[in-house]
Amino acid sequence: MHNKLKLLFIVIFIGSQAYAQTYTPIGTVNPNDYEPRQKQISEANQSMVSTQHFLATQVGVGILEKGGNAYDASVAIGFALAVVLPRAGNIGGGGFMVIYDSSDKNNYSIDYREKAPLLSTTNMYLDENGTVIDNKSTLGYLASGVPGTVAGLWSVHQRFGSMRWGELIEPAINLAEDGFEITPYMADMLIKYNEKLSAFDETNKVFQTYYPDFDKKIFKQPDLANTLKIIAKEGRDGFYKGEIAKKIAHDMQNNGGIISEKDLEQYQPVWRNPLISSYKDIKIVTMPPPSSGGIHVIQMLNVLENFDLRKLGHNSKEYINVLSEVMKYAYADRSKHLGDPDFYDVPIRKLSSLEYAHEISQNIKIGSVTPSIKINPRSFDDKESIETTHFSVVDEKGNVVSSTYTLNSSFGSGVVIKDTGILMNNEMDDFSISPGVPNQYGLLGAKANEITPQKRPLSSMTPTIAFKNNDLFFTTGSPGGAKIITAVLQSILNMVEFEMDVAEANNAKRIHHQWQPDKIQIEFDLSDDKKNWLLNAGYNIEIIEPATNLQLIMKKNNTYYGYGDFRRPDSFALGVSK
Ligand code: DON
Repeated sequence: MHNKLKLLFIVIFIGSQAYAQTYTPIGTVNPNDYEPRQKQISEANQSMVSTQHFLATQVGVGILEKGGNAYDASVAIGFALAVVLPRAGNIGGGGFMVIYDSSDKNNYSIDYREKAPLLSTTNMYLDENGTVIDNKSTLGYLASGVPGTVAGLWSVHQRFGSMRWGELIEPAINLAEDGFEITPYMADMLIKYNEKLSAFDETNKVFQTYYPDFDKKIFKQPDLANTLKIIAKEGRDGFYKGEIAKKIAHDMQNNGGIISEKDLEQYQPVWRNPLISSYKDIKIVTMPPPSSGGIHVIQMLNVLENFDLRKLGHNSKEYINVLSEVMKYAYADRSKHLGDPDFYDVPIRKLSSLEYAHEISQNIKIGSVTPSIKINPRSFDDKESIETTHFSVVDEKGNVVSSTYTLNSSFGSGVVIKDTGILMNNEMDDFSISPGVPNQYGLLGAKANEITPQKRPLSSMTPTIAFKNNDLFFTTGSPGGAKIITAVLQSILNMVEFEMDVAEANNAKRIHHQWQPDKIQIEFDLSDDKKNWLLNAGYNIEIIEPATNLQLIMKKNNTYYGYGDFRRPDSFALGVSK
């Protein structure tokens, strides 16, 4: 376990049950301390944007008002978030996008996840005794995968965009050049991550002038503005070839990193068939591997269809019981079977089959708990052939974009590439760097997710679109590492099963269980009645600060509704009306 994670918890034992309370480290940000930007549901009849930063939302709305489509707005938002949300928005990271295109009524998904560099090796984060070296996969030059964001946004624009590429990057260039006001929440994030942001000279150069007094400070990023100008002019080649690619490769070489010009030049995003399933009468379209999110949301929904959740009641003790058990089976399978499908045969059909879901449901009895140690990832013997941020956009024509992208940890690897303003990801930590050793989200992995050159690390990011009667119902997606999958699951249940509006679906408390460690994690707190019932049933419980942040857009009676999650209080949804 990473040391930082160990520090996070003080465990108080009550009898034989462990009841864990979160220890709040200095600088930790509690969303209840902030005035959320979103005060009420945004409503519009033409289009809607939802992102984790109101300035990026404004950029998206501006593009839609200029006549751009959802793809144009998404490209502009992707670049704008790289400027205004440096903890997660990025051009030095990667992600996924799920699309519904109204012109051919088809669903698409694009995988622009980072790739392991050509010089990576399976044991690159282990010492000679095979022990994981602390922080090596999370901090510094060696922690990065080959970034995919610029190539992904470029590819989406090539296929579906309508406005000029350069015009879509202009708002981001202006925000980087002229600067923008640091919000109280961003200031606290900069304080919380000060150690990481001062660990490398170039990162110091970008961030340290803003410490310690953030009040009304304008955050400018001239190097990033310059990099964005090159990308605006030269397209994807502006990042993957020429001056910027050379700077990345040289900086890597000078500091023990391994990403080369060849890695950058060879990087390609992949258009993949999205996973399509249903929950009752709702069609769910979501991201396939190398995200684990889509497949496990489908698996869990399939199991949950065997229970009368409405009768149990939202977040009742019995509901928490059933959800926790279902989650354990899904995350157990994740640890064994999920990885990059270009390198490993992921048993998608089996994991998403109704028979398997029924089998799991037979093991779940309300009031009883199967300890995680007794739940083993299922063996499928025969082969089958077959600090992250989310944004969603729907446009006038009915095109829908749901995208989650990331640097992995907040502020990624902490490395800014010299003279470029590019903050790099630490996505290599999403590989299983050693069997049985959890990554920073406590997730376990196996051969399916071991490091191999050019392979993509397994992800939990779950951009998803839901349809009712062949019409958009809602889009959902979230940051939050391992907790993304369960946050997206609960957002679907909240809106489908409990008929909540976007604000209620967002505000409802979320629970999480990921098989190992064997504990339910619950946001904020729990009534004594529920707590004691769950403890008596045999659960360990940990009260956590929220780790997820949904960006929901719902369509109802030809009106779009959006609501930025208060958990990251700069989140904001805004629409355009005729
Ligand atoms: O791809 C993944 O699953 C992780 N790299 C996501 C990281 C994340 O959500 C961090 N945000 N809070």
